[in-house]
Amino acid sequence: MKIIVVGSGYVGLCTAVGFANLGHDVVCVDIDHEKVRKINNGETPIYEDGLEGMLSQALQKNKLHATTDIDSIKEMDFIFIAVGTPSKEDGDIDLKYIKSASADIANFIRDKNYCTVVVKSTVLPETTEKTVLPILEKSGKKAGKDFGLCMNPEFLREGKALEDFFNPDRIVIGEYDKKSGDELVKLYSSFNAPLIRTNLKTAELIKYASNAFLATKITFINEIGNMCKNLGIDAYDVADGMGLDKRIGKHFLQAGIGFGGSCFRKDVEALLAKSKEVKSESKILSTILDINKDQPLKIIHLLKKRLPDLEGKTIAVLGLAFKEGTDDIRDAPSIVIISELLKHNCKINSYDPKASNNMRKLYPDINYCRSASDALNESDACLILTGWDEFKKLSYKDFNNMNSKIIIEGRKVLDRNLVTGFEGVSW
Ligand code: UGA
Repeated sequence: MKIIVVGSGYVGLCTAVGFANLGHDVVCVDIDHEKVRKINNGETPIYEDGLEGMLSQALQKNKLHATTDIDSIKEMDFIFIAVGTPSKEDGDIDLKYIKSASADIANFIRDKNYCTVVVKSTVLPETTEKTVLPILEKSGKKAGKDFGLCMNPEFLREGKALEDFFNPDRIVIGEYDKKSGDELVKLYSSFNAPLIRTNLKTAELIKYASNAFLATKITFINEIGNMCKNLGIDAYDVADGMGLDKRIGKHFLQAGIGFGGSCFRKDVEALLAKSKEVKSESKILSTILDINKDQPLKIIHLLKKRLPDLEGKTIAVLGLAFKEGTDDIRDAPSIVIISELLKHNCKINSYDPKASNNMRKLYPDINYCRSASDALNESDACLILTGWDEFKKLSYKDFNNMNSKIIIEGRKVLDRNLVTGFEGVSW
């Protein structure tokens, strides 16, 4: 099949590369010339496991290319909208990229045969029908007759995006009409996953409700974890005991310094704004946001207990990315923690295997070390903020060069057989 993917952020690019590797002919469309140049050169604008290799395979096989000019493309079977939906001040989502992509697509389909437009961006219930559809119909073509329209949310995790693309837990197809849905079902026919067909706004809400539920689950275990800390209980032992109950499940019960990333806070805020708009205000969603805002500060609180006078101390910060496996620092707990340390005039020796360059743009003046050992050298305390695999290999020798051996984990990562004498935020 011939597929256009509009927007080459992490969702768009991973989706494009995924479809190209399944043998489809894919064109990535993006307004950013530099991004387009990079993609055509086989360079990925983001770090994502396996993406570079698969992109170069797709380029070699002539299955993918990128352009800024959608009008240079001839006929298409599918056009995916995968542009960003950033937050506005009031928590609602900003639809400017969705609107401009829809307008470009309207121009494109004006003189084309039937193709199916698929909204993959995370958009609030009713957006596809009330915002995207009317813009597309300005082409003079009718949805359901001259072109198809679907909403197909993505559930890709950063760091595991390609694995998730090829092995989804489910595929959700929100369809404007049966023909549109039938077309998209054909595209996904080679996937071995349960397929849910529903209407557009239900598909939109499935995405938000899923992310909000995951954020709730993490926040719940973080609250239990905070209690555990005061009770001298390891929250991970509690999570193990809970997770074996099939109704609860073991995933997303890892307590720590709170969720970060570009999705959870933004999506919870947007769903909260929508709940207010439809006069059914969610109490749980605003509480989740409040709790998660405070959660990174738990590690500062513990640090101050151990090192009451933080003024001018050297703190090793291991891990800057919002989670392991990515260079993404959006909403990373490390941002809040570094800002707190700087308020106390701490000297920060940071280390992250992938995210230092991104953090440098935000905090140009802290130290970016080449290894965890370098960061630990002569530090007064160490905070572990991301669960990178390489931190699992750290042994007591790596910590021997610290001035004082205060080690606090925000994510449970150190190997208890290799290091002793450390504590965690909820263990
Ligand atoms: C999340 C969802 O998991 C994806 O299904 C969804 O497609 C994506 O958002 C999106 O909407 O685009 P992602 O933000 O990549 O994916 O990261 P997660 O793996 O969900 O982790 C989010 C945050 O929660 C990270 O900071 C992570 O460290 C934290 N987390 C996760 C915990 O603190 N505890 C856990 O048990 C799990």
